[in-house]
Amino acid sequence: MVSIKSINVQSDSLIKINTDLLVLAQKEGGLISGVDPGLNDILSSAIALESFTGESGKVVNTYGDDATKRVSVFGLGKDDKITTDGIRALSSKISAYANSLKLESFTVDGDSFGLSDSNVAQAFSEGLVLGAYEFLDYKSKKKDPNTLNSVNILGDVDASSIAKGEVIANGVAYARDLGNHPANEMTPSIMASQAEEIAKSAGMKSTVFDVSEFQKMGLGSFYGVAQGSVGKVPAKMIIVEYNGGKKGDKPFALVGKGVTFDSGGISIKPSPNMGDMKYDMCGSAAVMGLLKTVAELKPDLNIIFAIGATENMPDGNAQRPGDIVTAYNGKTIEVLNTDAEGRLVLADVLSYVNDKFSPVAMLDFATLTGAVLVALGDKATGLMGNDENLMSEVKASSKATGERAWELPLWDEYTDDIKSDFADIKNIGKGRLAGTITAASFLKEFVGDTPWVHFDIAGTAWGPKKPAYQPKIGSTGVAVRLVYNLLENRVN
Ligand code: BES
Ligand code: MN
Ligand code: ZN
Repeated sequence: MVSIKSINVQSDSLIKINTDLLVLAQKEGGLISGVDPGLNDILSSAIALESFTGESGKVVNTYGDDATKRVSVFGLGKDDKITTDGIRALSSKISAYANSLKLESFTVDGDSFGLSDSNVAQAFSEGLVLGAYEFLDYKSKKKDPNTLNSVNILGDVDASSIAKGEVIANGVAYARDLGNHPANEMTPSIMASQAEEIAKSAGMKSTVFDVSEFQKMGLGSFYGVAQGSVGKVPAKMIIVEYNGGKKGDKPFALVGKGVTFDSGGISIKPSPNMGDMKYDMCGSAAVMGLLKTVAELKPDLNIIFAIGATENMPDGNAQRPGDIVTAYNGKTIEVLNTDAEGRLVLADVLSYVNDKFSPVAMLDFATLTGAVLVALGDKATGLMGNDENLMSEVKASSKATGERAWELPLWDEYTDDIKSDFADIKNIGKGRLAGTITAASFLKEFVGDTPWVHFDIAGTAWGPKKPAYQPKIGSTGVAVRLVYNLLENRVN
């Protein structure tokens, strides 16, 4: 992970500040103010020369004086068109610009960006961090690495929201890292030890179950997927308990699909782009990113973090199409396609968490179906659930954070499509019809009456390059910002 080390807030004025770059913003038709008089003359001529009026997407760059070496004025556009997501995208471009100049630090006029507002301030610092993200861990010669170390923000600025945004964005960056590591380096064991480390640092209880315990624990569905890697890359079920809320308050549960590599198993996938299946643990990366964020921000809430981590490999011991397994809640499953493995893993983790912790609500995150890409492309996460109130909370947080998510129906009729001739249910639906929904209908069998929303992030976990704060390559760290927002709203 390469990103900004520190964002500092100071109440200094803009007069005679020593910096390589001073960044200001201007609303369309607005004026800039507070700048050192000498600089102001230079800026005014530059602005006039460029016929700049503060339009969104426009910027005026100019050299300054001995103290303030460069000045950039970014257009914010029309007042009523400014959104927090737009601010996040803009600040990500600003840190990318500072990196392109090879700067170690720069200065921001917080007043012109409106950073006294808590939401704007949080979005601004999130963008700064996300725009500086790069992943060079496996480059032996790091060509042109990012240089940015710190950002100084001046003026009347909501410092605590700046700090919060920095922590959340670092949680996103951590989730991106986990996704970007290749499957030989990001194994279930490594994921488990990282979760334990974070848990320990914040005094949380963590429990890691090894694949050797799965069968006696009743995790037959999860075991079936893991069995092709036994003795090689052992599967783990990871549970972390965070008790920030009242004693006795039921926890909120976050569950992630952590398939560290999905070859498809015996129902093997075609070779083109199979390397992308290192990202099949991005659901668990979201859970880990949230774990890291919660460990630092410590919201007043009880939370269970749960991850089903395994490979899905073909092997002499791998499960066969046609095998029937029994899940933790006693339901029998006919495995007609070993490539529909995510739902088999989640079946056990969801029913285990539901049984052991009686959560108030559960969210799960999974790169579950290629079909969600057919439905929504890489523009939105697919949402399905069994509770309107919880779904509304998710949608509200989606809106607040700019993380696009869209509900698909989960009517009972879809359950007909997963009925099995030989077992209770089968792990595939009706051919190509509504593949995302039949996958969610399968999961619904394992959550009981607990309010639950499923996030199918197969389209959004890697790939999207827009808005500007998304990475140019690799994993996006999707769902961390949205879900942290939801958790925070639950506290209030
Ligand atoms: N991990 C895949 C889903 C996936 C596909 C994610 C493409 C990202 C991009 C999942 O395990 C899978 O293979 N699903 C199958 C289900 C099918 C066999 C019913 C799919 O979507 O093809
Ligand atoms: Mn699969
Ligand atoms: Zn998968």
